[in-house]
Amino acid sequence: MNMEFQLKAELKCSGSLSETVSSSEIADFVKLCNTEVLKKGAPPGCGAEIERWNVAGEKIGLKIVSDRFVRAHDALLRVKNEFGKFLGKHSIGIRGMEIEDYAIAMEWEEGLRLKKLPFVKEIKQEEGWLKLSLDVDEFSLEKRIPDRIIRLLEDKREAEKWKGKKEHWELLFESNKKPFYFDKDPTEEMIKRGWIRHAAGRGQWIHGPQSTRIFRTLERILLDNLLEPFGYEEMIFPKFVPWSVWKKSGHAKGIYPEAYYVCTPKTRDPEYWEEVVDYYKVTNEVPLDMIMGRIENVGGMCYAQCPPFWIFMQGKTIPDEILPIKVFDRSGTSYRYESGGLHGIERLDEFHRVEIVWIGNKEQVIEHAKQLQAKYRRVFDEFLDIEWREAWVTPWFMVQEGKAGLAELKEVGTIDYEAVLPYSGKWLEFQNVSVNGDKYPKEFSVKLQSGEELWSGCSGVGLERWATVLLAQKGLDPDKWNAKFRSVVGELPEVFRFL
Ligand code: SER
Ligand code: ZN
Repeated sequence: MNMEFQLKAELKCSGSLSETVSSSEIADFVKLCNTEVLKKGAPPGCGAEIERWNVAGEKIGLKIVSDRFVRAHDALLRVKNEFGKFLGKHSIGIRGMEIEDYAIAMEWEEGLRLKKLPFVKEIKQEEGWLKLSLDVDEFSLEKRIPDRIIRLLEDKREAEKWKGKKEHWELLFESNKKPFYFDKDPTEEMIKRGWIRHAAGRGQWIHGPQSTRIFRTLERILLDNLLEPFGYEEMIFPKFVPWSVWKKSGHAKGIYPEAYYVCTPKTRDPEYWEEVVDYYKVTNEVPLDMIMGRIENVGGMCYAQCPPFWIFMQGKTIPDEILPIKVFDRSGTSYRYESGGLHGIERLDEFHRVEIVWIGNKEQVIEHAKQLQAKYRRVFDEFLDIEWREAWVTPWFMVQEGKAGLAELKEVGTIDYEAVLPYSGKWLEFQNVSVNGDKYPKEFSVKLQSGEELWSGCSGVGLERWATVLLAQKGLDPDKWNAKFRSVVGELPEVFRFL
């Protein structure tokens, strides 16, 4: 891809250049830069060049042009460094620099229009070129902001390629056909029977004793048949997730439209809040605007469940002999701000999931994913007696970063489990199994004593989803449920009656 960079900057020195350094010395310095310093690392004939320079008192003005090999901002940092050494001989230092203008042009598809970009004051798109005028200072150059803008543009271009195409979906397995005993929406039926009621919040439900008994039965089956035989131990993962975790997990790249945001008070000082309290007491209205000014966002509610666990291992080295590690969490709810398509307990904002995490070397992690798959099949067949299918899909951690496609390594990825809901004929994803490669150990700096690569996998069991699939295919009458399931669930409790 063709790219051109043009950067105008001024270096400010601690003493007057015009008085101390001769023009020919500077000209020689510039020549050295143009032949060596700014060509280093670039293919022959490529790199950056100081196209113009001028000295005025303590300042030296530079115009640097480049291709994509030694980008002009990199070139400027190199020049600054070299110039510092050069001036040192004259007992002058560099005080700082100012970026007057930074223009980047690159070949660009006509169809992909851009409106706004961070650190860019002007965007022009013409004749197959994208022209950006950047608003950057020395600090942003050091933070490599221009490189990140270019990376962002590459991401956008990549995303455009996937747009309109279907998400990756490749059938891996289909279960046997099973008899269906129900053709209604299970949520509607549960409401009718008083098993659940919509809660006060968006996409949030209160589960009565019967529905709760079903959830606990599903957990019991999972524990007895999968987690305990495989030697899993229970942990408690945090349910509030600060940004520092989501920066590492990649969620900070894409979670924004779906997060449940968490805010804390800017101060606990009661006086700071007095006006809010008084306003509420006088009006009986909660003054949201006044509150918004007094709180700050610190992260969000549990979304993918496993990411905040990794702080437990962050920065540690572990002995090889404790592998594979197998832990799970069922200590709380997860949240997603779902789109308009909220539907009963199938698609909701607050949901319950058992999150299963295993950690080992590459072979162990891949092998255990296979063991889990085999056991899941037996559970779905023997206890739930459902019809389902399995598909190889875009890995969950890529989806949640806003990416499409597949992981670079073919062993890394997600299997989605889907079951048909007879009442709508639609397939519902009710759990997944993923090999996450070295992503998490790498991002959270967890090392193995032997130096071998550490891998991990995770599997999310959505209790609402399991229950929906079971009830949608078999109905709400226990005598239609499989005997093995019935023996665990026992008698459904009846507590409430309403007049
Ligand atoms: N963390 C995985 C996900 O969010 C499994 O639950 O899909
Ligand atoms: Zn996970």
